[in-house]
Amino acid sequence: MPTGHCPVRVVAPWFRHLTRNPFRGQAEGTGADPSTSARNLLAMKPINWFVRLEVPADDAAVENLQSVAFGPGRFARTAFRIREGIPHDPALSFVGLAGDEVVGSVRLTPIRIGETPAMLLGPLTVAPEFKNRGLGKLLLRTALDAASRQGETAVLLVGDPPYYGPLGFLPVSFGRITLPGPVDPARLLIATLNGADVPSGPVRGGR
Ligand SMILES: CC(C)(COP(=O)(O)OP(=O)(O)OC[C@H]1O[C@@H](n2cnc3c(N)ncnc32)[C@H](O)[C@@H]1OP(=O)(O)O)[C@@H](O)C(=O)NCCC(=O)NCCS
Repeated sequence: MPTGHCPVRVVAPWFRHLTRNPFRGQAEGTGADPSTSARNLLAMKPINWFVRLEVPADDAAVENLQSVAFGPGRFARTAFRIREGIPHDPALSFVGLAGDEVVGSVRLTPIRIGETPAMLLGPLTVAPEFKNRGLGKLLLRTALDAASRQGETAVLLVGDPPYYGPLGFLPVSFGRITLPGPVDPARLLIATLNGADVPSGPVRGGR
């Protein structure tokens, strides 16, 4: 477990969060089949998300989440290629637990955009059976807060604008930031932190 003087390293591992709307997305019990009703009741239990820093022992669980979400084709994706061989930042990578099971993950990896140090966010993954219950956004907010406190100035990602837009991510102007592989320009998004301007230039992994 990382320790140090940065407050997030000490405090962040043990955040407890209750979902905003824990009942969202659950099917309603019909009452016709007792076993179905029991399952639905169980599924409707509020989830008291537990978010903490990722540790090396989480590797297999995180890898499994990524495999389920993106399949074997993930290794060919441009964002994966940028991260290849570059360790994610352990102070800015979090897992979400339901009970003692790792069911969500977000990682931030150091990159440069032109000469500007920045972070690449991803993958963000939530286990299929726990989707739409607020964990993805909770992990995102936790990672962005931690990045801001660490003094980071930009977080880049490739993802769906309707999901990331409300959390502060804006589309990158066409050609302003270039990646070393194909990417849909409409899905290249950036959040600037600590009052910084949007950087420009080619992206490469590491600092
Ligand atoms: C994308 C993902 C991380 C979202 O996590 P989640 O915990 O299910 O989502 P949340 O509960 O935080 O948010 C749910 C809301 O986001 C919406 N949403 C989910 N995925 C979305 C997407 N790709 N585009 C737009 N909206 C999306 C849901 O419809 C829901 O909307 P509502 O609040 O109006 O009901 C999760 O679905 C996942 O793991 N997907 C596969 C991997 C992936 O695509 N990761 C992102 C790219 S790196």
